[in-house]
Amino acid sequence: LKKELAGFSTEIDFVEDNEFPELGKIFVIDSKLKDLYPQKISTIVGNKPIYNLEVSEANKNLKNMQKILDFFLINEITREDTVVAVGGGIVTDMTALAASLYLRGCKLALVPTTLLAMVDAAVGGKTAINFRGYKNNLGSFYPANRIIFNLDFLRNLPATEFENGFIEIKKMALLKNNGLLEMITSEAPLADIIQKAIDTKLEFCRKDLTDRGVRRFLNLGHTFAHVIETASDFKIPHGLAVAKGILLATEYSRALGKISETELENISQLFMEYKLPDFPNLELAKFQNIIIKDKKKGDNVNLVLLKGIYKPFLFTDTNLQNLYNFIYKK
Ligand SMILES: NC(=O)c1ccc[n+]([C@@H]2O[C@H](COP(=O)([O-])OP(=O)(O)OC[C@H]3O[C@@H](n4cnc5c(N)ncnc54)[C@H](O)[C@@H]3O)[C@@H](O)[C@H]2O)c1
Repeated sequence: LKKELAGFSTEIDFVEDNEFPELGKIFVIDSKLKDLYPQKISTIVGNKPIYNLEVSEANKNLKNMQKILDFFLINEITREDTVVAVGGGIVTDMTALAASLYLRGCKLALVPTTLLAMVDAAVGGKTAINFRGYKNNLGSFYPANRIIFNLDFLRNLPATEFENGFIEIKKMALLKNNGLLEMITSEAPLADIIQKAIDTKLEFCRKDLTDRGVRRFLNLGHTFAHVIETASDFKIPHGLAVAKGILLATEYSRALGKISETELENISQLFMEYKLPDFPNLELAKFQNIIIKDKKKGDNVNLVLLKGIYKPFLFTDTNLQNLYNFIYKK
């Protein structure tokens, strides 16, 4: 399957364990995977050089980026060689950034191994590391030449990690009227849901690789989630923070008279099964500080709200006091 993304062409394949093609010259791999899936990793990598990355947000930094670039250099990678990332979003984000920098771009293949990386991080061409305490604030847009999906990687995925991905799928289902929501509510096979979610994400990115327009709808719930995660020192899992964020965005849309009570109830239903966190108790100044410091947004806060299911819109809130009053029911 070939997908075009703003002049980049990405080949997408779904493979079974015995169908892995030869992917590239060197591999950056989540260090946990060789113990969790020894057979599979050995099939994928063969006798090619491996860089084992110990995965954590703290390690998603410039120092490790440099080590990955050293690994490229030592192995004499040229622009025509393919480097391969096998792992979750941290490995795919970092390897993709390194691939975009090295010789101004070498070839890149991704093998996402978490649900979140499959439907989100590995798809759409964003790359990043964390820098000076800010999340994902060094990066580039560099779609992979190839993405290989092997759903058997989800076999040992911890429940929280599964939830992180599935909540992003539910988010996408609310943004586009393409059958994904029905597939989720009717409990269609997971493989079908994943394929549809990938298509949905690609659809937004194809129209807007660099995040200036429709792609921003994918941030539904994420401004609130960012506050929840930051205030909890990132102890609350991303998925649950996003689910809570989507509910708050929907309730705010309702408070502004944009969405009906019935649709609010239907959306709430989607997230009933999760034990959602409370929104943190914050002074206005702290609340403002977290939201405004979110570097990508400038002075105003652009919230994604809903005029209805499948009807996201960008709401520019210039007065955070209103939002604050809404959240804390003042
Ligand atoms: N580029 C983008 O568009 C984009 C989008 C969303 C998220 N992200 C980034 O992705 C990262 C989150 O991705 P993630 O949730 O995949 O995180 P991750 O890479 O940290 O993986 C989550 C955990 O699962 C483990 N793991 C990976 N594959 C496994 C498997 N098959 N079985 C068992 N355990 C496995 C990892 O070791 C890790 O502990 C964040 O850094 C985020 O900023 C990027």
